[in-house]
Amino acid sequence: AKAARERAYAPYSRFLVGAAIRAPSGAIYVGCNVENVSFGAALCAERAAVCAAVAAGERSYTALAVTAGGSHVTPCGICRQVLSEFSRDGKLVVICGTDGGYKTFELETLLPEAFAQFEPEVKKSE
Ligand code: THU
Repeated sequence: AKAARERAYAPYSRFLVGAAIRAPSGAIYVGCNVENVSFGAALCAERAAVCAAVAAGERSYTALAVTAGGSHVTPCGICRQVLSEFSRDGKLVVICGTDGGYKTFELETLLPEAFAQFEPEVKKSE
């Protein structure tokens, strides 16, 4: 997550974020925030990491680490919902780090009662 943070593109907020997500296989996928002059188009590091994992064929995760260097950061609401899409069957440990230490949460604690009204219509392998 720290290494990915070094590649963050955040020229508007100057708030650099890196994330790393681990699949049960042990493989780790990273992401960083990518901003845009149209501010609403900004992509958070956590969702970038999820997209990298999904593109590599991994749809279940055991842990996510996120760091904003010296600043405390926890995943935003949209990222919590996106993470919940891929942790319906098990718990996801969310590690929120700073240069000085880290706090650990379960996603269920960060987003209790996530919206999950519909079942995904594709099978896991599809
Ligand atoms: N950001 C993340 O990448 N992850 C978070 O958990 C919080 C916010 C990004 C979005 C935007 O590029 C910048 O941080 C300031 O909000």
